[in-house]
Amino acid sequence: MSNSSGADAEGASTSSKNEIIKGLNEDLAREYKAIIQYVVFSSTLKGAEYGDIAEQLKEHASQELAHALEVARQIDYLGGDPTVEVKNAEYSQDSKKMLEIDLRQEQETIKNYRERIRQAESSGEYALSEALRDIIRQEQDHEIDLKDALGLR
Ligand SMILES: [Fe+2]
Ligand SMILES: [Fe+2]
Repeated sequence: MSNSSGADAEGASTSSKNEIIKGLNEDLAREYKAIIQYVVFSSTLKGAEYGDIAEQLKEHASQELAHALEVARQIDYLGGDPTVEVKNAEYSQDSKKMLEIDLRQEQETIKNYRERIRQAESSGEYALSEALRDIIRQEQDHEIDLKDALGLR
């Protein structure tokens, strides 16, 4: 069998690039949601038992903004349009419930970035996969902070 034609290879790489752009826009909408939740929750979190985590959540908010900027830059670089859609932000007056909401969101985010790294690598987008690895490392730190605050570690 001969190698696939240039046209086929081109077509495949265009469609996988479109898949990555679509996925990154989901990731971007998820980052916007994370920013909103951390901004609101870091300023309303009550309870002496949550002393340290309020400060950490402010830090998370800034890091999620940096992630959003990086993901948007990567989408633009791939030739896509960064979304203005936001995933529906969640909120609870109950501090424990809100931390649980944030934890679930971080775990969902990590799962999605893992998938995106896999897609990027199978398409030869190595600069993208490296950028996503830096992001996922911080999401894992966020997950640890939330687990600590919830006494889950
Ligand atoms: Fe993030
Ligand atoms: Fe995060």
